[in-house]
Amino acid sequence: MPMIRESIVITADRQGQAHIAPIGLIAEGDGWIIAPFRPSTTLDNLRAVPFATASHTDDVRVFAGCLTSRRDWPTIASDNVPVPRLAAALAHAELAVTEVRDDPERPRFLCRVVSIATHAPFPGFNRAKAAVIEAAILVSRLQMLPRERIQRELNHLQSAVDKTGGPEEAEAWRWLMEKVQAHERGPISVHNP
Ligand SMILES: Cc1cc2nc3c(=O)[nH]c(=O)nc-3n(C[C@H](O)[C@H](O)[C@H](O)COP(=O)(O)O)c2cc1C
Repeated sequence: MPMIRESIVITADRQGQAHIAPIGLIAEGDGWIIAPFRPSTTLDNLRAVPFATASHTDDVRVFAGCLTSRRDWPTIASDNVPVPRLAAALAHAELAVTEVRDDPERPRFLCRVVSIATHAPFPGFNRAKAAVIEAAILVSRLQMLPRERIQRELNHLQSAVDKTGGPEEAEAWRWLMEKVQAHERGPISVHNP
């Protein structure tokens, strides 16, 4: 199994309009593969402008926000590619597409790392942050997964958020639960085991 790094990927259209999306970058050799499912703005943008940035942030509200119509996160111009990076990035990589492997469901954009920069220290692991990212992945698959599985996994994740999270994780969790509730058209009873 390849290693996957959950990142905030920014792409841009031909007019320079940036688009922010959480994407799992797949390791391949010295580079990374961006594999967007169709249809997707990230995919359209990569075809139009074959560059991206991958920002690594510990602010998990960006992951939860992008899945709950809160995509307006501050960005900063990059040094070497025509796509900005996330202002809140602890580190970021600037990527150039070198090959496209087409696929009816999930094309793969192989990227060369043009440059890497560090902006702030890594503050350490936190289980609530990891739980929010897991929940964000579940929320991105609400249409595909059975309700019982979503409920079971959210119950488990909620305990890490309650026991180890701070205000940012609580806010990100609330956004995600609101989306789950809207999807189910009724309250979902997430509780501590
Ligand atoms: C941690 C995480 C990783 C994700 N990885 C992918 C991915 O590799 N490919 C993908 O198509 N969507 C992925 N998603 C879902 C996308 O973020 C979401 O569908 C997004 O809106 C992409 O579509 P867009 O480019 O049109 O915005 C991921 C979501 C999360 C929370």
